[in-house]
Order: sequence, then structure tokens, then C-alpha cells
Amino acid sequence: MSDTSITLTDPSTGKQIELPIIHGTEGAPVLDIGKLHKEFGYFTYDPGFVSTASCQSTITYLDGSEGTLMYRGYPIEQLAERCNYLEVCHLILTGELPNAEQKVAFERTIRNHTMINENLKAFFDGFRYDAHPMAMMTGVVGSLSAFYHDKLDIRDPEHRMHTAYRLIAKIPTIAAAAYKHSIGEPFIYPRSDLSYTGNLLHMMYARPTQEYRLDPVAEKALDVLFTLHADHEQNASTSTVRLAGSSGANPYAAIAAGIASLWGPAHGGANEAVLRMLDEIGDVSNIDKYIAKAKDKEDPFRLMGFGHRVYRNFDPRAQIIKEICHEVLKTYGNDPRMELAMRLEEIALEDAYFVERKLYPNVDFYSGIIYAALGLPVEMFTVMFAIGRTVGWIAHWMEMISEPGQKIGRPRQLYTGPARRDVLTLEQR
Ligand code: SDX
Repeated sequence: MSDTSITLTDPSTGKQIELPIIHGTEGAPVLDIGKLHKEFGYFTYDPGFVSTASCQSTITYLDGSEGTLMYRGYPIEQLAERCNYLEVCHLILTGELPNAEQKVAFERTIRNHTMINENLKAFFDGFRYDAHPMAMMTGVVGSLSAFYHDKLDIRDPEHRMHTAYRLIAKIPTIAAAAYKHSIGEPFIYPRSDLSYTGNLLHMMYARPTQEYRLDPVAEKALDVLFTLHADHEQNASTSTVRLAGSSGANPYAAIAAGIASLWGPAHGGANEAVLRMLDEIGDVSNIDKYIAKAKDKEDPFRLMGFGHRVYRNFDPRAQIIKEICHEVLKTYGNDPRMELAMRLEEIALEDAYFVERKLYPNVDFYSGIIYAALGLPVEMFTVMFAIGRTVGWIAHWMEMISEPGQKIGRPRQLYTGPARRDVLTLEQR
């Protein structure tokens, strides 16, 4: 019995195949099935990729049973407490936290790329006033390759990193423009004298008519939220970026595909769905009714903000966000939805259905309450998730595209359609 491979025997032929076991730094080892179809005639079958590792990565590690999340080996709790978001961006992009000199240089680089081409403003005029900001983000980010094609040789490491700087710097400007468009106010230009999140808040809330006073509580809360959302291994939107980019498509198109995937309510769209759910529940007296709906297999309703494909214990990010929530609400006044959310969490976590299925609050459960306290409309909640996650997406794109022997992603299938049949003439049909 080898601990370096697993042997399979085909029951119909008695033929055997050895599948190598590959161990990583942490976590479950993998079975290399690369030869399985060619030598053994089988595909593996794993809808939703529950047990499938799509790649090797050095960026993020998470352990669902331990509730562990690390970026490049650093625990999320320490990063959230000791670093700001741009330091975490430097870590995720380069593999190392910046020293004091590198931190100043990186922040200056990002600040130099925050403006967007003036012609892009016309794109926003083309959207209806009530267009969902995620639709605007998907469209405008996808169009960036039309403006920034000077550094699009994806095989050139310098071009790749330059594109990363541009995306990290411009995403808040595009997000703020989408918000301003949706409220019919003039765009506010980025400023180089503000922090990354201070700049975003200024572009969203400043008006030509009056000075905007930045609130350090909001600035800090957003900065930690972006750190908590920065990356998360091979989640649906990151896997979308990798697959889209694997064809050699330009990185702006790949990131736009990731934004589109994040929008779904089962993924990043959940933070918006949580607030809508809390508004629909309305009062603690209705919680039991909605818990029953969430458990009813005939009812499509799910408890938004609960459950996770990987975390079968607690989501470490939810724990940190819950604390930030309390801090923010000390300044912005208590939001009855916070009490409702905490009561909902309490009741759900006592219910056998949720306990048996290990359905705990995830990153999206509390973040919406903070965004609401900061005055954001629910339509902007997933946009905030996209801002934080952009660095993770572009880091995974860079890792994928620079992989030696990088190939286009092309999964197979189990065909269950009609067997071969002949086309009848029109008269015969
Ligand atoms: C994010 O992948 C990532 O890392 C994502 C993310 C990131 O940072 O990128 O962490 C961000 O997307 C967080 C998740 C946000 N989504 C939501 O909060 C939406 C509500 N959650 C569910 O849709 C669900 O829990 C998922 C999509 C998150 C996970 O779904 P899975 O892993 O496919 O689990 P499943 O559907 O197989 O559910 C297992 C069981 C089922 O019941 P049984 O068939 O076993 O009886 O649990 C039930 C499900 O019906 N279940 C729920 C539930 N989530 C799962 N029942 C009620 N409410 C829920 N929320």
C-alpha cells in the first residue's frame, strides 16, 4: 500500500492505474488524475467541484473545519489588525508584506493610477438612471482594455503588474462613478492626498457644493472590510477569472467576468440579499416563520448570509466583521436590523437543521449592516465586495497566466442526451 499513490482497478477489464498523491504545504493532498482519461478511459465527475482542486496556488489557504484563513501564510486576524488594505494588496500581489519604504512607494503607485479616461464617463451616461451598479461595473471594467492597451502583453511580467496597479487603483473610481450616476449627482475626481478608502468615500459622498468631512471610523471600517474580502482561494468568481483568462483573453475582460460571477446571490450578491431578507423579516416575531421557510425543501427561500461551501465551522471573517459592526453602530446609531440579525443568528444556531448542516453566518451576514450604516444603498453592497476582491482576482490571474505550461481550461462532461439518430426529412417528421 503506497502513500505516494492510489491504485484503481477497472472492474470491467481488471486494468489498474496508479494515481500519484501530491502534498501541499497545508491542507488536503490531491490525487493527480491527469492521465485518467487517456490511459483509463474515465472522466471524474464532481458537479460544483466539491472535491476538485483546479490548480496549485501559493496565495491563500483556508481550512473549513478549523475556520482558518491565511493570505501568503499570514492569518487573517493578524492582517486585519496590523495592516491596512494596500499593505495586504502588496502582500497578495508580490508574496511579501511591504517594508516602510516599499509601503510608501506602493501607495504612491496606486494613487498615480486612480483616474479613469475622461471618455469612460460617456459610458455611464448610456446606462439608465436605475441601472444596477454591478451591471455598470461589469460593463465599464470590461471596456478598460479599449483604453489601456499600451500594457497588455500578458506574457510580460511588467505589463501584468502594471495592469494590477491600474485595476486596484481604478475600481474605486469606477464604483464611485456608478454610485453617483445612480443618484444623478456629478462625478467627484479622485484625490492623491487621501487614503485608499478615504478617497472612495470622498468620491462617493463629496459634492461640488460643500466640503466633505471624512469620518475615520468609516474609513477604518471599510479598510478592514476590504482586507477581509481581498481573496478567498478558488471561489466561484476567482475560478471564473482563471478560466476566462486561461484562453489568453485580456485581464480586464477576465476581471469583468469575475465581477459578473460575484453578482450572484449565492456568492457576493448575498450581502445585498441579507439586507433585503432582514427587511422582509422585519421583526423578531417573524424569525420562526422564515427559519421554517429556509428548512422547507419545497420553498426556494434560503437564509442569506448562512452556509458556506468550505467553512463547516465558523467563517473567521464573520467573527471580525461582527465586531466592526458594533464599533460602527456606536458612531452611526443602532440599526434595528443588527439586533434582528443577532437574534436570527442565535435562533438559527440552536436549530438542529442548521447545526447538522454546519450552516454558520458567513462573510456576507454582517457586512451589509455596516454598509447600510455608512449610508450605502443595498445595490452598492456587492460593489464593495468587488472592490476588495479585485486584488485577489488579479493575483490569481497573474499566477495562472505565468504558470509554466499554462493551458486553456476545458472541463469534460457526462453526456446523458439522446443516442445517435438520423435526421428525418420534413415530410417524415
Ligand atoms: C460567499 O466560495 C467562497 O469562498 C465564497 C465567499 C468568498 O469569499 O468568495 O466566501 C463569499 O459567496 C459566501 C456565501 C454567500 N452566500 C450566501 O450566504 C447564500 C446562502 N448560502 C447558500 O446559498 C449556500 O450555503 C452556499 C451557496 C453558500 C453553499 O452551498 P453548498 O456548499 O452548495 O451547500 P448545499 O447547497 O449543498 O447545502 C447543503 C445543505 C442543503 O440541504 P440538504 O440538501 O442537505 O437537506 O444545506 C442546505 C441545503 O439546502 N443549505 C441551506 C443554506 N445553505 C445550505 N439551507 C438554508 N439556508 C441556507 N443558507
